[in-house]
Amino acid sequence: MPNAHITGWGMHVPEPVLTNDDIAKLVETNDEWIRDRTGIRERHIARENEFPSTLGIEASLKALEVANMAPTELDLIICTSSSPEYIFPATACLIQDQIGATKAGAFDLLAACTGFIFATNMAAQAIRSGSIKNALVVGTETLSRFVNWKDRNTCILFGDGAGAFILQASEKPGGVLSAVMHSDGSGADSLTLLGGGARYPATETTVHEGKHFVQMDGKAVFRFATRVMGHAAKEALDLAGLTANDVQWIVPHQANLRIIETAAKYLKMPLDKFIINVDRYGNTSTASIPIATVEGVQKGQIKVDDKIVFVGFGGGLTWGALVAEWTGPIPTTKKHVHPEQYRFFARLRSFVRRAIRFIEGLFSRKEL
Ligand code: COA
Repeated sequence: MPNAHITGWGMHVPEPVLTNDDIAKLVETNDEWIRDRTGIRERHIARENEFPSTLGIEASLKALEVANMAPTELDLIICTSSSPEYIFPATACLIQDQIGATKAGAFDLLAACTGFIFATNMAAQAIRSGSIKNALVVGTETLSRFVNWKDRNTCILFGDGAGAFILQASEKPGGVLSAVMHSDGSGADSLTLLGGGARYPATETTVHEGKHFVQMDGKAVFRFATRVMGHAAKEALDLAGLTANDVQWIVPHQANLRIIETAAKYLKMPLDKFIINVDRYGNTSTASIPIATVEGVQKGQIKVDDKIVFVGFGGGLTWGALVAEWTGPIPTTKKHVHPEQYRFFARLRSFVRRAIRFIEGLFSRKEL
């Protein structure tokens, strides 16, 4: 059975930064309160012309470059987002088209902030089954579009950004070692975005009632998160036959520093074994785990052969953890691949295919 190794990683955040002081100009709050209760100092916010697909494309191309893989080698793309571009088409298909992943099947996976754990596990399972060799997993968000900037309960928390992993099959031991996935729909009400779906299709009333905004029972989510985070990490470690002592790094979902501190206490692990960057990005939902991982690698914290626990929780309710042995790019003799160069051809190909479809449409109308 092949193993599923994480061989590429990339992140991209929009440039504009919104500080706590900036938010204090919008709602009654202040920097000290936000830092005390959440650990967040600032977050990045997408510009008008930035979307989950555009942020996801940048992160994906960087991940492909690290793995030295051309987009055409991808067999599967799973995009996970709490703020997808549309209900359909899947954001994954937009990314597939624009990076030129011509042979990849692409779909979206919705599990709120736990999405990246679930999606990475699904990609790893597909690789282990032998049905695919190369997968791209992308977590990408412009949640700022769904935040009510008059609601101080939620608007202080979220930020925009994207992160991506490449997973590759290899007979070498290591890679993804174990994973656990959990859900409890009885807690669905605690964190929601109700508008625009089949139950509340967009109408003047749904907009008036703010159903197109994230709604959250902060205390309930806090209680849930502190209960499940450490537990899920331990479960995944047990499954891999490891203990907390065997692990070099925990990469937690970056929602709130106090939640991460509670998980550290539960696991009896020092906080400096946790990769933490919630202070600079806020909660970027599905993108938070890959963004923290990329920074961990860039700072020289995460190294080859390290054992890492990725652990997350979110709306649904959902939660899960995944244990991996960090591999790094698989050594190859092939020339350095510049996935960025594929972008031009991907755009050209997309344009030509649209043109052909248009022309086909003209002819088929005549035939009818
Ligand atoms: N600025 C200043 N005061 C605020 C505030 C803000 N942004 N938001 C709430 N307050 C006030 C409340 O009105 C309340 O005042 P009161 O005591 O006079 O009624 C007081 O601060 C305490 O509010 P409370 O809701 O108890 O705060 P809290 O300690 O639970 O912190 C959250 C609120 C949202 C930061 C916290 O509950 C949390 O992080 N929950 C988890 C959210 C999360 O991670 N969601 C994403 C999951 S993926």
